[in-house]
Amino acid sequence: MGGVFDIIVIGSGIAGLSFALRSAGYGHRVAIVTKKHQAESNTNYAQGGIAVVTSKSDDFELHVGDTLISGDGLCDEGVVKQIVEEGPARVKELIQLGLEFTRIDEGAYSLGKEGGHSKRRILHVADMTGKAIETALLNAVNRHPLITTYEHSFAIDLITLQKLERAGHMRSGEGNRVVGLYVLDVFSGKVATFSAQAVMLSSGGAGHVYPFTTNPPIATGDGIAMAYRAGVPIRNMEFIQFHPTTLYSPSGKRFLISEAVRGEGAMLRNRDGERFMEACDARAELAPRDVVARAIDAEMKKSGSPHLWLDISHQPRAFLKERFPSIFQTCLGEGLDISKDWIPVVPAAHYLCGGVVTNLRAETSLAGLYACGEVACTGLHGANRLASNSLLEALVMAYNGADSVHGYLAKGSEIPDNMPGWIDGEMSDPDERVVLTHNWEELRRAMWDYVGIVRTTKRLKRAMKRIENLSAEINEYYWNFKVEPLLLELRNMIVVGELIVRCALKRKESRGLHYTLDYPGKAEKGLDTTLTL
Ligand code: SIN
Repeated sequence: MGGVFDIIVIGSGIAGLSFALRSAGYGHRVAIVTKKHQAESNTNYAQGGIAVVTSKSDDFELHVGDTLISGDGLCDEGVVKQIVEEGPARVKELIQLGLEFTRIDEGAYSLGKEGGHSKRRILHVADMTGKAIETALLNAVNRHPLITTYEHSFAIDLITLQKLERAGHMRSGEGNRVVGLYVLDVFSGKVATFSAQAVMLSSGGAGHVYPFTTNPPIATGDGIAMAYRAGVPIRNMEFIQFHPTTLYSPSGKRFLISEAVRGEGAMLRNRDGERFMEACDARAELAPRDVVARAIDAEMKKSGSPHLWLDISHQPRAFLKERFPSIFQTCLGEGLDISKDWIPVVPAAHYLCGGVVTNLRAETSLAGLYACGEVACTGLHGANRLASNSLLEALVMAYNGADSVHGYLAKGSEIPDNMPGWIDGEMSDPDERVVLTHNWEELRRAMWDYVGIVRTTKRLKRAMKRIENLSAEINEYYWNFKVEPLLLELRNMIVVGELIVRCALKRKESRGLHYTLDYPGKAEKGLDTTLTL
């Protein structure tokens, strides 16, 4: 493992794979580093689809308008316009790779509807869009001779000129830039050095900072923590999107019940079976997610019930089986026939609207470091992401990022030829591993209890105190013990937890996904929660 490449991509979801394909198309040698099996990514679990303007009754202005409304005053309008307008061309390229979006009988695309959209505009592959996209991209990536994929390879930290200078390895006199990456081979436990002029972070989100999430266990915010440690600005971390409807299970596992189910008329009912969304918002069940999640949270607190109900039983069984095969089967496995039974639902952490600050070319503030997908904060989502805008953003930004990296590589910055190897901690005492498992649970519990859908300054400060303790303990462990995935993930999650709380404390207002009882109104002046190490 290890070696010299033109570009290293961290992560193998829609953003990383699309970026790798376009970059390799330019003739660059690309390494994809992914910490589990290559197909394990947030993308793989996306049910809804891609929000994109394809129908004659829709237009860019409407899609831009819906995104801005959902983003609650914090979207960058120029970014929204560009991503929305470039979307159809990027989706066409996916179709050319062999992706077949679901069509209706006459051959036109079946367009889904989700919260906050004024039109039906979501292209989907039944309720397994992410899986279909991931498969199409992986087929192309695995055939490409210039792309090498390293599975079960955990990216630990970026190597920068500044880091090398500080460690006394060189004196360049140049400004800071990225020159590589340390990567743990999960099976052998050895750490390799990868060298490259450019690194693309496409490592996804951080849902596992919370105990209840729709995200797969890989979503531990690794890219955000890595960028932060390298001195790159991080923004809007307070905007955690809780998906309103996930299947309630006493085991704590949360399976997504797509918003598209509400798009097909599903109604939310409280413990007594009554609808309540109409009284909260004129858009009822199809209001933006922040509104729906807060209304559910309030109903649950009022009644003390561990879940509410989602009712789609008015739709014919055959329709539900065809439109939502995965949801239908999963619910059946839990003893629920959704054409007859109400579905018990609860909100769960779903999407991170903030992240590593980038411009529309996927450039971060650090030369050679790029970011796209959920790890990045471009300005598209603002304070609340519009449903199904994320796959769209990932496609557009991966494309733009590849062009941007191509331009950067043309300038030809040198990679030092004596890159230092990794020095691991000496100790490995299995008895001490309890620190990792205990702190893992403690962090996530604190995030759920104190940094959830409804916040207060007191609760945020409580969370901060705990995070500071956890951070001190885990940093000590990190410097003394051999690295392993659980330690690396926990170290990253603690950084991400801290960033979420610090951003939340800075935002002294309630806006979009950040709602605090201490500041229930919106601030008049725009607040900026950007954080840099
Ligand atoms: C869903 O299907 O409800 C999720 C789609 C998304 O998060 O964009």
